[in-house]
Amino acid sequence: MQNILITGGAGFIGSHLTRLFVTKYPEYNIVNLDALTYAGNLNNLKDIEHAPNYTFVKGDITDIAFVSNLFATHQFTGVLHCAAESHVDRSITDPLAFVRTNVIGTVSLLQAAKEHWKSNMAEKVFYHISTDEVYGSLGNEGFFTEETAYDPRSPYSASKASSDHFVRAYFHTYQLPVKISNCSNNYGPFHFPEKLIPLCIHNIIHKKALPIYGKGENIRDWLFVEDHVKAIDVIFHKGKVGETYNIGGHNEWTNIDLVKELCKQMDQKLGRAVGESEQLITYVKDRAGHDLRYAIDATKLKDELGWLPSLQFEEGISKTIDWYLNNSEWLDNVTSGDYQKYYSSLYGS
Ligand code: NAD
Ligand code: DAU
Repeated sequence: MQNILITGGAGFIGSHLTRLFVTKYPEYNIVNLDALTYAGNLNNLKDIEHAPNYTFVKGDITDIAFVSNLFATHQFTGVLHCAAESHVDRSITDPLAFVRTNVIGTVSLLQAAKEHWKSNMAEKVFYHISTDEVYGSLGNEGFFTEETAYDPRSPYSASKASSDHFVRAYFHTYQLPVKISNCSNNYGPFHFPEKLIPLCIHNIIHKKALPIYGKGENIRDWLFVEDHVKAIDVIFHKGKVGETYNIGGHNEWTNIDLVKELCKQMDQKLGRAVGESEQLITYVKDRAGHDLRYAIDATKLKDELGWLPSLQFEEGISKTIDWYLNNSEWLDNVTSGDYQKYYSSLYGS
């Protein structure tokens, strides 16, 4: 029997993780703690909201008294910490929001775990879900390994790096049983359309400009979100305490090639002329401090725990596009209201 706290379970990755744990482990009690910011959406969890082993709690991870009470009430044995401010562009506009949730929120959870976990430590796990962006930016060669020195370059990645350091500090100083994973770019259903792939899918549907920062030469290593949460499942149950695991897609794309692939597949699916959506590609001002390339070496995870991504990118992206085309109501809901204001403040129209 496990009582597990998932933070940020109403977000993109958190909702896939919550679904996996609620359905795969009916014997676990899963509590999803989420503040429901612009990125949190309970519609992401409609299919499991009435499951007997699932409870949703609305709350803020930075509220230490509230978090501590939650630990007292539910006697958590495990924490899967996903809640975060996650968008680099928003971190450039409002860095303090990232310090608050990503740094203070993480320390507040660590502190509650430290206070409440006094016995049976071998049965406890505090798992921090982090990002490859903490390692900084690669040139054309090389990969991030678990030994790569931290070199965060955006307010978002600096806040995630800081939270990783606090998690390790609680392991070394207080012997809190922690695990960390640093993952590359995810894509898939329920991805909020502020991020490149869902933003372009949305804009292609509506025949709107596809904004490419700079020359479109930046490279990201894309992983289907369901593969990410399967890796988290393996690390949570079998990874070593105190260790870090890199998770990646073995799947590098320049932004421009990726957007052209999206255009090609969507023209076919929407019955449009070959090349029609590519006409929407528009080069815009580059992101400040834009990291050139991320690429993960996930050898440790493969060798120690046997994890490999299961899906080829062309198949994953096809599934993702189909999901957005079949869930236009979800997309319409999240792109109404404040999204329009955000979009025009960043892109001008
Ligand atoms: P997301 O923005 O889609 O979701 C974040 C969730 O956290 C939302 O549900 C939001 O309501 C909640 N939240 C935000 N502030 C909160 C607070 N103060 N208290 C409680 N809940 C709060 O993020 P995501 O893309 O699903 O990312 C989840 C985690 O995975 C983050 O820690 C992120 O750094 C990490 N990560 C993301 C990616 C990616 O490609 N998306 C890759 C690697 C790692
Ligand atoms: O690497 C993992 C990280 O991936 C996660 O930690 C972050 O939470 C997640 O948001 C993601 O960060 P990126 O900045 O790489 O993702 P984003 O989708 O914002 O951008 C992907 C690339 O596309 C990046 O090089 C910037 C570029 N881009 C993005 C947007 C939104 C554009 O060219 N145009 C756009 O409109």
